[in-house]
Amino acid sequence: MKKLSIALLSVVAISGCSTFNSSGPIAVANMEPTQGNKAQGTVSFIKKGDQLLVDARLTGLPPGAHGFHIHEKGDCSAPDAMSAGGHFNPTGKPHGSPMQAERHGGDLGNITADANGKAELQMTIPLSEIDVSKSGASSIVGKGLIVHADPDDYRTQPTGNAGKRLACGVITLR
Ligand code: CU
Ligand code: ZN
Repeated sequence: MKKLSIALLSVVAISGCSTFNSSGPIAVANMEPTQGNKAQGTVSFIKKGDQLLVDARLTGLPPGAHGFHIHEKGDCSAPDAMSAGGHFNPTGKPHGSPMQAERHGGDLGNITADANGKAELQMTIPLSEIDVSKSGASSIVGKGLIVHADPDDYRTQPTGNAGKRLACGVITLR
């Protein structure tokens, strides 16, 4: 991690900060399919004031709605991605929808794929309960990002009953 920071600093020094656009992505998760699945893509996290813009572009999904969450561990090593643990929940709240105040910090709701299995989602979430700093209990950096087989019902505790994990990625600072 220290090596990475030094590398980033030298890029800034060489380019005179021009590559560091405040509206560009500050963190990215490259989503890879779990065993037997085809879902993949990229999810970018862009800081806009006190909001975080989540920009997800996925392919290879079954058509329809799929639960979409930040999970507590940035570990996609298990074939079914269960290694990513449960939902990221830095404030100790119940599971809910991204529209509710009472929800896990990692509850991003659902992402919906079209008939071709393609899904694009742009949403903003407040940076009050989570952040994108390099470390700290509320940071999403180094956490897992999961797309599920089934829709999140926003009610079932603590998972939203979203079923199996189709794709997994680790949220990494750019
Ligand atoms: Cu999940
Ligand atoms: Zn949750």
